[in-house]
Amino acid sequence: MLSIKSIDTYYGEVQALMDVSVEIGEKEIVAIIGSNGAGKSTLMKSIMGLVHPAKGTIEFKGEVISSLNTWDVVKKGVIYIPEGREVFPELSVLENLEMGAYSKKYSAKELKGKLDMAYDLFPRLKERQKQKAGSLSGGEQQMLAIARGLMSDPKLLMCDEPSLGLAPVIVDEMFDTIVRVNQEMKIPIIVVEQNAYMALTISQKAFVMENGRVVQSGDSQELISSPEIKKAYLGG
Ligand SMILES: Nc1ncnc2c1ncn2[C@@H]1O[C@H](COP(=O)(O)OP(=O)(O)OP(=O)(O)O)[C@@H](O)[C@H]1O
Ligand SMILES: [Mg+2]
Repeated sequence: MLSIKSIDTYYGEVQALMDVSVEIGEKEIVAIIGSNGAGKSTLMKSIMGLVHPAKGTIEFKGEVISSLNTWDVVKKGVIYIPEGREVFPELSVLENLEMGAYSKKYSAKELKGKLDMAYDLFPRLKERQKQKAGSLSGGEQQMLAIARGLMSDPKLLMCDEPSLGLAPVIVDEMFDTIVRVNQEMKIPIIVVEQNAYMALTISQKAFVMENGRVVQSGDSQELISSPEIKKAYLGG
């Protein structure tokens, strides 16, 4: 579905990705783990056309997308839920969800169907649909960011650090929702996480990044029991 082949990405002179290759299959949840500054978000931004790789290619459903601008990548159905949620704070929950459907020309009925889907997944958002997004709790903002991403009927969803700053019980809820979206809506998902344990638990496959490179990859269950991974990312 998504095939990233040997990309190098730079910010000016600084090289943030080096020879990165990642493959994502049709129905998978794939985890990208690694410590601060490893290049995880840069990989997401490279897929989204927010930065363009200087070398290598990114193919989505057999089509090269690495030189497209972000708007066109979104139109292909690749949706990025950025680190820090980035909801529109001054807009209501409902308006944020409507913005998520902006790239689609839905009829009123279709839009209502999408809103029902979002509220079914996150009943709490329905209760708060008139509330300004900026006044939601961190967990609620993360729910809204995911729901907003789902409004455009994505073919691939990428979540950057969905658990960041959330209380443990909310983190569990968040990961349960990600699994539900994958299984019930049949949407492949890339989860970027510093919470390596959770990410490895819910994913089928994982890529470990360090200093701009993929240093390890494989079956998530195997990685979770690898002594090296345990020592470096799972607190021993
Ligand atoms: N806009 C930018 N301009 C210059 N350098 C950048 C920019 N964004 C990121 N970098 C650098 O690229 C490297 C990779 O950053 P990136 O944000 O991809 O890491 P990350 O793995 O997502 O880290 P974190 O877990 O902290 O979010 C870092 O050294 C960072 O300082
Ligand atoms: Mg990041």
